[in-house]
Amino acid sequence: MRVLVIGSGGREHALLIGLAKDSSVTDLHVAPGNAGTTALATNHDVDVASSDSVVALARKVDADLVVIGPEVPLVLGVADALREAGFATFGPGAQAAQIEGSKAFAKDVMAAAGVATAHSEVVDNPAHLDAALDRFGPTWVVKDDGLAAGKGVVVTTDRAAARDHAAECLESGHPVLLESFLDGPEVSLFSLVDGETVVPLIPAQDHKRVGDNDSGPNTGGMGAYTPLPWLPDDVTRQIVDDVVKPVAAELVRRGAPFSGLLYAGLAIGKDGPSVVEFNCRFGDPETQAVLALLKSPLGQALNATATGTLDALPPLEWADGAAVTVVLAAENYPGKPRTGDVITGSDAEGVLHAGTARNADGAVVSSGGRVLAVVGTGADLAEARAQAYERLAGIKLPGSHFRTDIGRNALEGKISI
Ligand code: GLY
Repeated sequence: MRVLVIGSGGREHALLIGLAKDSSVTDLHVAPGNAGTTALATNHDVDVASSDSVVALARKVDADLVVIGPEVPLVLGVADALREAGFATFGPGAQAAQIEGSKAFAKDVMAAAGVATAHSEVVDNPAHLDAALDRFGPTWVVKDDGLAAGKGVVVTTDRAAARDHAAECLESGHPVLLESFLDGPEVSLFSLVDGETVVPLIPAQDHKRVGDNDSGPNTGGMGAYTPLPWLPDDVTRQIVDDVVKPVAAELVRRGAPFSGLLYAGLAIGKDGPSVVEFNCRFGDPETQAVLALLKSPLGQALNATATGTLDALPPLEWADGAAVTVVLAAENYPGKPRTGDVITGSDAEGVLHAGTARNADGAVVSSGGRVLAVVGTGADLAEARAQAYERLAGIKLPGSHFRTDIGRNALEGKISI
């Protein structure tokens, strides 16, 4: 099977590593990829937001399967164009991708499906902002109702900061969503979804704030671990039965069946799981940890989803133990990152590339905010953490930063529901 992966991050590097291990995969291509993906696949420099360019590339490489990693091409309908051109495609069409592309759409689907989520209000007129803010708090959750790579969400007890973020979104022409704050530890549960067929992967936890102990602003994700020792199996089953399956069924009912990876981000509160957000694609950096434990052939699972045969896929098998991924970020991330710095040690085992490129001398340099994702595995969380941080210690990137506490609260038994 010739597979074309769309995207350039650590998630896509993890997908390529998983696909390369599947004996049914004979050829790997990626667009645009990064400096690390060339070890596994042929990189193609195309505009992945352009349906015409992606379809032309799929024709050129004669792809049997196209796997779309990021949300932007999905929301823009690249999966629809590929399917129309006859390519088996992993990733939802534009209509179903609205589950991530429009927070208001996601809320509407959840209300119709009877899924627990935060109370919310959409504000699209600056004149209504203050009155709306007064109806929320003392912790404000303000979301940009558009795609913002995880950085469009501000959660704060400071009303002025909440107002500033909302006003900024409105000024740039996006409505904002104000939400009641959901208390409780967060879980990312990924499911392969093909219409109403749902196959969950193992749950993971992301660390969204930039600094240790959840300090500082939100990012796209600074690290993740899996599985979650504090989450009972029956809660995972409850999420599948009470959240993922009803949402998949509601999308089918609306004539927008989902095909691909549905990411449910949830807070596990005293009354059970409530949805914080849905994404229409694999999460980053959770994917790097989750796929490190997948024993089943990844290409066959993605192909079954893409070809509408997920119900015939044998149960997924997982390695025992744990996996941890730690993101190495460029100076100033999540603000405008410093780029162009030479990185050493990035070709070691367990080091996945994200924002990397090669300079004119062929050296690997930083080219984005989240530069690398370093993965460790082990018999338990302690071993996986130790391996991830040991691998990270072998990498040099001037000005870079990372969190030192990925998975630590879980390891120390400090998370309970
Ligand atoms: N890890 C958060 C995301 O992928 O959106």
